[in-house]
Amino acid sequence: MKNLFTRFALIPVLLLSVLAGCSSGSGSDSSEKDEAQQPILIEGPMPIEAEKFAERLEDVEEEKSGTFVFYKGTVDGYPVIVSKTGKGMENTAAATAVAIEKYDPAAIINQGTSGGHDPDLHVFDIVLGKRTTNLGSLKTSDIDEGQGIESTEWKPMDLMASEGSAGEDPNAEKIRYYKGDEELLAAANSVKDTYRKGKVVEGTIGSADVWNNEFDRINWFHEKYGTSVEEMEGAAAAQIAKAYDVPFLGIRILSNNKTNDGEYNPDTAAANQEYVYEVVKEYISTLSKK
Ligand code: 5AD
Repeated sequence: MKNLFTRFALIPVLLLSVLAGCSSGSGSDSSEKDEAQQPILIEGPMPIEAEKFAERLEDVEEEKSGTFVFYKGTVDGYPVIVSKTGKGMENTAAATAVAIEKYDPAAIINQGTSGGHDPDLHVFDIVLGKRTTNLGSLKTSDIDEGQGIESTEWKPMDLMASEGSAGEDPNAEKIRYYKGDEELLAAANSVKDTYRKGKVVEGTIGSADVWNNEFDRINWFHEKYGTSVEEMEGAAAAQIAKAYDVPFLGIRILSNNKTNDGEYNPDTAAANQEYVYEVVKEYISTLSKK
């Protein structure tokens, strides 16, 4: 009896799935189109680092998830989403995961301001993140009570090295670099002449929820990690993009540089978005040629 009931109960379910199959069949054109048009996601932490780009989108709709704001629109008819993530690693990691789950982006650019670690770079220069790394992931030295704090002895700690204890695993004592996507880098390089407010170079972006103002500490990162600039978001976005295998690039303008007395200038945030807009247009044109 029970079996008979289950069999009959299944009929509407089967019918529904056949119908669903038909309707997805007839709509296959649009789903193929959607697949070809996965959006490009542009992230900026602060209002001044996201809203200028959002203003340039056409047909914009605003969506929110928690404190994260997503401006959904188009550039040259192609879907682009600007995300105002909020500052710092946690906001950025979460906003990136939410965006990937909700919008399935084809590529992610995390952009905004930064502080120089390289004395050859000046306020308004732009760094394309050939590599991005987490500067806050460290293991301290093993020192007993009353023996002080030796922060230059601290070792990089790679939290992704294994599923075991990072504190005990000697293989975790290394720097993890997230590589910038080759195609995004190529698009960024090919429009660098459109940017006239400073130079555009490839380099290493370092991130942590820390603003370093100690000259020697900045130098320590510059020498040990090869950092060009520091900021508070890039490595978090890069780590999550990698977890989902989404192409990623960090693009950071210097708003300040302690190593050559470069004073903070907030106008850099808008300048970076103008440049990133050119990068996005270029990237879209390469996508449509594929
Ligand atoms: N150190 C750390 N973060 C910086 N930012 C700009 N300059 C620096 C710097 N020298 C960016 C961060 C964060 C906000 C405080 O500004 O990415 O979003």
